Amino acid sequence: MGDTITIIDDRTGKQVTVPITNGVFPSAALRELDPDLRMYDPAFLSTAACSSAITYLDGDGGILRYRGYPIEQLAEHSTYLEVAYLLLNGELPTTEQLAAWTNDVTHHTFIHENMRKRFVDGFHYDAHPMGMFVSAVAALGTFYNDAKDIFDVASRDKQVLRLIAKMPTLAAMCHRFSVGQPFVYPDNSLSFPANFLNMMWKVGEYEVDPVLARAMDVLFILHADHEQNCGTTAMRVVGSSQADPYSACSAAASALYGPLHGGANEAVVRMLEEIGSIDNVSGFIEGVKQGKEKLMGFGHRVYKNYDPRATIIKNTAYDVFQVTGNNPLLDIALKLEEVALKDDYFVSRKLYPNVDFYSGLIYQAMGFPTSMFTVLFAIPRTAGWLAHWVELLGDKEQKISRPRQAYIGRGVRDYVAIGDRA
Ligand code: CMC
Repeated sequence: MGDTITIIDDRTGKQVTVPITNGVFPSAALRELDPDLRMYDPAFLSTAACSSAITYLDGDGGILRYRGYPIEQLAEHSTYLEVAYLLLNGELPTTEQLAAWTNDVTHHTFIHENMRKRFVDGFHYDAHPMGMFVSAVAALGTFYNDAKDIFDVASRDKQVLRLIAKMPTLAAMCHRFSVGQPFVYPDNSLSFPANFLNMMWKVGEYEVDPVLARAMDVLFILHADHEQNCGTTAMRVVGSSQADPYSACSAAASALYGPLHGGANEAVVRMLEEIGSIDNVSGFIEGVKQGKEKLMGFGHRVYKNYDPRATIIKNTAYDVFQVTGNNPLLDIALKLEEVALKDDYFVSRKLYPNVDFYSGLIYQAMGFPTSMFTVLFAIPRTAGWLAHWVELLGDKEQKISRPRQAYIGRGVRDYVAIGDRA
């Protein structure tokens, strides 16, 4: 028996046999049976919309690899900038390549003064930083006339560089505006994560703690890509219309904003604050089991095992707390995890902590307001979005994304004048 699948249309008796390659079979088989036949797959549970060589994810095994490299090894030995290079180029850089890439990124961190003075000043004083960030990413594209030259490789590389380099600057700008503090310009003498922390926190004298800069870098590495998640799918769908990468990244960031996606880390901290004490954990878990609420930071569409990123983040949390002092919500989180992992409701549904369960605790201990958490996710995810965008543009099998539907609305009927309607 070969690796094939045979589909029989019982209405006609017609059958078609197609190969299964890399775990997928071509949907062209369905069109061959009947050009009007569609597969109904809400939320794309069984649909592979592309071939990708970027990230490997085995949800049952709890395995995550970027370009073949295990996430655990990258988190231990690499830096976000090196990982961004790897995601974008497919290989780890040589010493010279990394030096050139780091130099390029470092020298593209500034943004046009009008972004800050005119664009940002238009926001309401209490605007949510992620809402500002989503808009700022799209607005940034209007400063570059070459942004639309997406098939010019040199121009495309330039936009990729600009987006990777300027995301921390935009993120810090949104925060400083939301708390009424003056903008801090990028400092070319600092590393990528240290520069971001400096732009966030510098008031008068400020020195970035190397432990916190490394923790930030590890968090950036862990969030850099996660194959076809909601935000990356938004990037690919918008990118498939040949929109410029700023608009596509803004769409991806909008998808990330939702509480079921990148907004979950913010929701986790709110949930822990509401629980308030480890004495309330059992009662909260009962409420979750009765469907009253969700245990935020638990469960994943793909991971049916412990999210490997959560394991690394949990360890990073202890490093951070050594510098910042313990986050009192940690005890509640640990108790929640302990109770849930023993409870049949969570065990039978294979619900484990995901990347967002502990990341919010670190961010909070480092002083980030909860409203910045999703912005922190978006900074490194930009590398993944752009790697997928570049891959999409080079994929001859791709066209503009355009799913079909099963129409379940009314049949044809005649217009009724407003006075004659019942
Ligand atoms: N708390 C309680 N029950 C849950 C949870 C949860 N966090 N997640 C899933 N379930 C239950 C769900 O009610 C369903 O139960 P039943 O079979 O009785 O109807 C079952 O588990 C399967 O859930 P599902 O909703 O079909 O799973 P999904 O793949 O559609 O959802 C998810 C995945 C991440 C949206 C969901 O687990 C969730 O909402 N989790 C909380 C939000 C969260 O932490 N999101 C961050 C995801 S990781 C970061 C990222 O990649 O964006």
